[in-house]
Amino acid sequence: MTGERRPGAPTRHVVVMGVSGAGKTTVALGVAARTGLTFAEADEFHPPANVARMRAGVPLDDAARLPWLRDLAGWMAARAADGVSTVLACSALKRSYRDVLRQGPPNVEFVLLDGPAEVIRERMARRAGHYMPPSLLESQLATLERPHPDESVLVLDVSLTPDELVSAAVDGLGLTTGVTAGR
Ligand SMILES: Nc1ncnc2c1ncn2[C@@H]1O[C@H](COP(=O)(O)OP(=O)(O)OP(=O)(O)O)[C@@H](O)[C@H]1O
Ligand SMILES: [Mg+2]
Repeated sequence: MTGERRPGAPTRHVVVMGVSGAGKTTVALGVAARTGLTFAEADEFHPPANVARMRAGVPLDDAARLPWLRDLAGWMAARAADGVSTVLACSALKRSYRDVLRQGPPNVEFVLLDGPAEVIRERMARRAGHYMPPSLLESQLATLERPHPDESVLVLDVSLTPDELVSAAVDGLGLTTGVTAGR
C-alpha cells in the first residue's frame, strides 16, 4: 500500500480520527485500499518512552504527546516531499493535536468518525482479542474536542458499515481513485 514516489506532484493527506474503537484503522485501511494512499497507524509512531509509559498504565499527557504528533506531522511532510499521498489512523482528539498535525504537509484533511457511544461500546465488546475498560471510552469521549466549523472536518456516522464509511470518505473528500497516489 505504498504510493509511487513522484517528487513535486500535488499530494493529499487524510487523517481518520475519533475515539478508541470508532473504526479509524478499519476506515483508513479501506481508504488506502481503494485509493492507493499510503497508510500509517499513528500508534506505531510512539517513542519508546511513551510505549513504556502506556505499558505501565500511565496515561500520556499533552507534553508526552507532542514529540509523537510532531513525528506524525514530519512523516506526512516527508511523504508530501516525495509526492506521496497518505492516510493516517490517529485519534487526534484535541484541536491542539490536530494543529500540530497541520504543521506537517501543506494540506491535512480530517475525517471524524463520530456517533453514539453505545454503538462504539458494543463494537468494542465484540472485538476479538481486545479488552477495553468502559472507563477508557468515557475518558476518550470526554477528551474529544469536536471540530469547530472553521476546521472544515468531514464528520461521518459510525453507525454506517465500513464500506459505506470508506465510500463517504473517498467521495466526501474527492479522493479520485488511484490518481492521488501518483499512479
Ligand atoms: N463501521 C463499522 N461497522 C461495524 N464494525 C466496525 C466498523 N468499523 C470498525 N468496526 C469494528 O469495530 C472494531 C474497532 O474498529 P477499529 O479497530 O478500526 O477502531 P479504531 O478506532 O482503530 O480503534 P483503536 O482506537 O483501538 O485503534 C473492530 O472490531 C472493527 O472490525
Ligand atoms: Mg486503530
